[in-house]
Amino acid sequence: MDKINLPKASSLTSPNPVTLVCTQKPNGSTNLATVSWWTYLSFNPAMIAYAMAKTSFSGEMVRENKKVVLTIPGAAIKDAVMGCGMSTGRDTNKIAKLGIKMQSIPDSSIQIPEHTRVAIQCTLKEYHEVGDHYLYICNVDQVLADENEEAVFAWNGYAKIATAKQGE
Ligand SMILES: Cc1cc2nc3c(=O)[nH]c(=O)nc-3n(C[C@H](O)[C@H](O)[C@H](O)COP(=O)(O)O)c2cc1C
Repeated sequence: MDKINLPKASSLTSPNPVTLVCTQKPNGSTNLATVSWWTYLSFNPAMIAYAMAKTSFSGEMVRENKKVVLTIPGAAIKDAVMGCGMSTGRDTNKIAKLGIKMQSIPDSSIQIPEHTRVAIQCTLKEYHEVGDHYLYICNVDQVLADENEEAVFAWNGYAKIATAKQGE
């Protein structure tokens, strides 16, 4: 076998999962950020985790509000999913810029994209410094699904967003 680095490994494990992390901005509107590094942690109690760069605006918002919704986007918004990973909510209204249609969900003031296969509503339990990222460990409050939406994944490392069928 060849010795490689971790970025190369993450491209070799592609397709990787991808989420849009939805948080609430100080003005009450929603911010969306593309995050590939998330995982289920526990079914009982229901818990998930995700890692975001220390500098991310989404991280700042979840540390402040404790609430976050992880959504698995549908194929119809795959281009917008890439777009949400290219700018920061600190100075950009990504929803307006990318023309993403949003929907309200029960028991949450955070909105999510209309084209969502799964939405995992969470409360931040704790977060830890992990190198250049923070790892956010969350309790799952509620999970919603629309099985008519087809999930997308990150292909070729993080270069392309596509369904499992469209990827190659
Ligand atoms: C396909 C893809 C996957 C990404 N995965 C992550 C990730 O797992 N963690 C992370 O911190 N940033 C990830 N990013 C980059 C963030 O989405 C990007 O830094 C974004 O600007 C953060 O937005 P925010 O400042 O509004 O939170 C990814 C970007 C793309 C395009």
